Amino acid sequence: LSRRSFPKGFVFGTAASAYQVEGMAHKDGRGPSIWDAFIKIPGEIANNATADVTVDEYHRYKEDVNIMKNMGFDAYRFSISWSRIFPNGTGEVNWKGVAYYNRLINYMVKKGITPYANLYHYDLPEALEVRYGGLLSREVVSFADYADFCFGAFGDRVKNWLTFNEPRVVAALGYDDGRFAPGRCTGCEAGGDSGTEPYVVAHHLILSHAAAVQRYRRRHQPTQRGRVGILLDFVWYEPLTADSAADRAAAQRSRDFHVGWFLHPIVYGEYPKSVRRSVKGRLPKFTAEEAGLVRGSIDYVGVNQYTAYYVRDRRPNATAAPPSYSSDWHAEFVYERDGVPIGPRANSDWLYIVPWGLYKAVTYVKEKYGNPTMLLSENGMDDPGNVTVGQGVRDAARVAYYRSYVAELKAAIDGGANCVGYFAWSLLDNFEWKLGYTSRFGLVYVDFRTLRRYPKSSAYWFRDVIAGTN
Ligand code: GCO
Repeated sequence: LSRRSFPKGFVFGTAASAYQVEGMAHKDGRGPSIWDAFIKIPGEIANNATADVTVDEYHRYKEDVNIMKNMGFDAYRFSISWSRIFPNGTGEVNWKGVAYYNRLINYMVKKGITPYANLYHYDLPEALEVRYGGLLSREVVSFADYADFCFGAFGDRVKNWLTFNEPRVVAALGYDDGRFAPGRCTGCEAGGDSGTEPYVVAHHLILSHAAAVQRYRRRHQPTQRGRVGILLDFVWYEPLTADSAADRAAAQRSRDFHVGWFLHPIVYGEYPKSVRRSVKGRLPKFTAEEAGLVRGSIDYVGVNQYTAYYVRDRRPNATAAPPSYSSDWHAEFVYERDGVPIGPRANSDWLYIVPWGLYKAVTYVKEKYGNPTMLLSENGMDDPGNVTVGQGVRDAARVAYYRSYVAELKAAIDGGANCVGYFAWSLLDNFEWKLGYTSRFGLVYVDFRTLRRYPKSSAYWFRDVIAGTN
């Protein structure tokens, strides 16, 4: 495998997010986000860890960009912290925050690393949550004002924009099972009916995305000539029994509820038929004007692909749980077939290592959604065991993971998928949400006591692939 196996101009990069790598959470004017509030709830985060410092990219960004450069990476997908720019979500600007992103972007440009800027990675300003209920409120369209400011401030150097990272995770984990901020476990409330919340939040995220894209296209794209898209997570769902029509339908419903929930409106202007049929009255509707704004609101799309599950049909029965996002799928995830696991498991309990799932997910987006310009915008695993530092860090499992997944991406591209870039998650070990620092996804090991960085074997593997010497 080498860069020569990919189309001319194909981009290799790494991905990260502001809250997971920056640190300085309460310094230099940054306002709190809903994650700063969420991690204060005892027991929500492993070892009650915080991201107040994490790996301190805020101060060490030059070292990190130098590592990217030394490994031969072309790009860095970072995210901008809304509450570092607008501490209260709207209104006064924190100019120290703007200065930080200018330092980061300018150094990337200087070192020849292309910036891919994502505007939202789970970190809504807490002030918006408190003031009017955050993503549950139509008011959240103020995201477009924040986006507009960033386009104006950084768009002369940033030509690759992304609005939201994983809106499905934001809506489902934040509002159905409550595992992520703001931790609303509506799926567990009395009677368990999660009501409309996940669907209202998803609807507002889609409208906010479309409003931001409209600002970019009207006010900035004609002069800046960049592109804007969205980042969608996509677990591949495979029918448990291939010749079972019920399992095939359950797998298709799962794809609709997962990636189709967002990509279907963005490409076709309406929610998938199976979602509309299954959720019934709890799904908001797009007005004709909104549908027109949402349809075609991407220049490219990021696919975050890690894993795959088998799926079998689970029809509602008399004792079926009251309606909730997760029960609406009428599908059950299964992790083995005839006693054979779908793949080995990484450290994270949701991450089974299933390379062919990437091929199927990318090919599905090609075939179902008109082969849009794609990025494989996240891919990676966290070590199953503890990784020790000593004569470098040997992460054989991760090298095997990347070798197999990158090969499947090449196969999908050879099959006609219009994928123009690949981003490994992540450059550094960092704050892995609920798992805190007990999960390491980095190509580079971080000693969390000293914050020193140690490239792992997987970093050198990418260096050789990108250099074409692999
Ligand atoms: C996402 C994630 C990242 C995670 C990574 C590993 O953007 O998909 O939530 O922030 O750290 O996916 O779980």
